[in-house]
Amino acid sequence: MPDFDLADLTEFLRIPSISTLPDHASDCRRAASWLMDRFKRVGCPVVRLLEGDGHPVVWAESPRVEGRPTVLCYGHYDVQPVDPLDEWISPPFEPAVRDGKLYARGAVDDKGQVFTLLKAYESVLDSHGKPPLNVHFIIEGEEECGGQVIFDLLRDQPERTMVDAVLVADMGYYAPGIPAVYTGLRGICYAEIHLRTLQRDLHSGTYGGVAPNAIETMVRLLADLKTRSGRIAIPRLYKSVIPPTKTERKAWKRLPFKKRQFLEEEVTGRALTGLKGFSVLERTWALPTFELHGIRGGFTGEGAKTVIPAQAVAKVSLRLVPGHSYAKAGKLLTRAVKKAAPSYADVEVKLLHGGDPVLCDVTHPAFQVLDQAFKSVVGRTPVPVRAGGSIPVVPSLQQGGAPVLLTGIGLPDDGLHSPNEKVNLQQISDGIQVFGRFFKVFSGRS
Ligand code: BES
Ligand code: MN
Ligand code: MN
Repeated sequence: MPDFDLADLTEFLRIPSISTLPDHASDCRRAASWLMDRFKRVGCPVVRLLEGDGHPVVWAESPRVEGRPTVLCYGHYDVQPVDPLDEWISPPFEPAVRDGKLYARGAVDDKGQVFTLLKAYESVLDSHGKPPLNVHFIIEGEEECGGQVIFDLLRDQPERTMVDAVLVADMGYYAPGIPAVYTGLRGICYAEIHLRTLQRDLHSGTYGGVAPNAIETMVRLLADLKTRSGRIAIPRLYKSVIPPTKTERKAWKRLPFKKRQFLEEEVTGRALTGLKGFSVLERTWALPTFELHGIRGGFTGEGAKTVIPAQAVAKVSLRLVPGHSYAKAGKLLTRAVKKAAPSYADVEVKLLHGGDPVLCDVTHPAFQVLDQAFKSVVGRTPVPVRAGGSIPVVPSLQQGGAPVLLTGIGLPDDGLHSPNEKVNLQQISDGIQVFGRFFKVFSGRS
């Protein structure tokens, strides 16, 4: 039996707060309300729904204790879509425990981790409901869809980030038993390419052999954007890359990494692809990527339809690394797409969302407090790593000058964004203790 209120967590997980699907907007609001209710229950005197053009941000403040530091805790209550639904062993919004693991969309990314922050805070309250330090919470609802609400908020009110430390619980351990602290995150530039070659779809017999096919044009264009050896063919993209420092490389060399196990258990494919001559860690942490997420066009229903499609759409993204900016990358991508398109195609690049890459200096004393917290609860200090993933708001959280501690309790096989996403109940329980310990030691009253 877990030593925390599992029913409370499953209630949160039952809310299908899929931020990218307009039909779930009211569910996102329900998740936000659920959190507000919990922050009120633990005695936060300030609990606000901060509105903008999209899903709201939940803001909460602990009762003010003078002369003590302030920690700002970040997380997100929104989740990714669930498809392919038929691959889930239990339904994504009906949390189920199997073998000490809780399966649900958002179990680890990020509702489970927001829950650990909330319970950790509750655990450090004294008998009068007073915490040993000031804790502010900023929990957004558009992390997974690249929304603007939290950006606009922090642009207009940067003082919310003027705290002593920012704690971001949206990441995972490097490996089971090995907690991690992140020195960097990749940025992202997500776009749609819209391409048209004809005014309408045509009979593929009558016109086949002469009419330009939009899907064929699209896939040739996409193929032109990356070489077979994995190099992204976007001029100037690699030139500005700031390579990892010697210290980082040395730390990465010391990390246990089993390529075969990584391939079989995490990647679940038959081979690793990508740029030759660079390690897996460098390819996933410190180099840009160009990925295709979906292609739409022509006929994809049951049966056969003989048609030459007039239009095609591709969803693509670039992951960005230090040295890149989202704004610049969007321009480079647009230019490269236009250049790769034949003159008979109309092509448009729509930038959907993005975020800049992040570097975190982990030498600030706050990191020693985090080290101590992990050491005392799980017996190990976190290893410095980077993430291949992105959290677009992190640069905005850094603007107040406070150290941003990127960490979390996920495990590599949690399957975030995949079917059967899970969290280990023991990790939740450890996380509550680790963050509780962090609050206590950081308050100076441990
Ligand atoms: N929590 C992840 C980011 C992450 C993943 C950090 C793995 C560390 C390890 C976050 O919720 C996420 O998925 N971000 C998106 C952002 C995008 C939709 C703008 C991502 O990286 O795809
Ligand atoms: Mn997340
Ligand atoms: Mn995510």
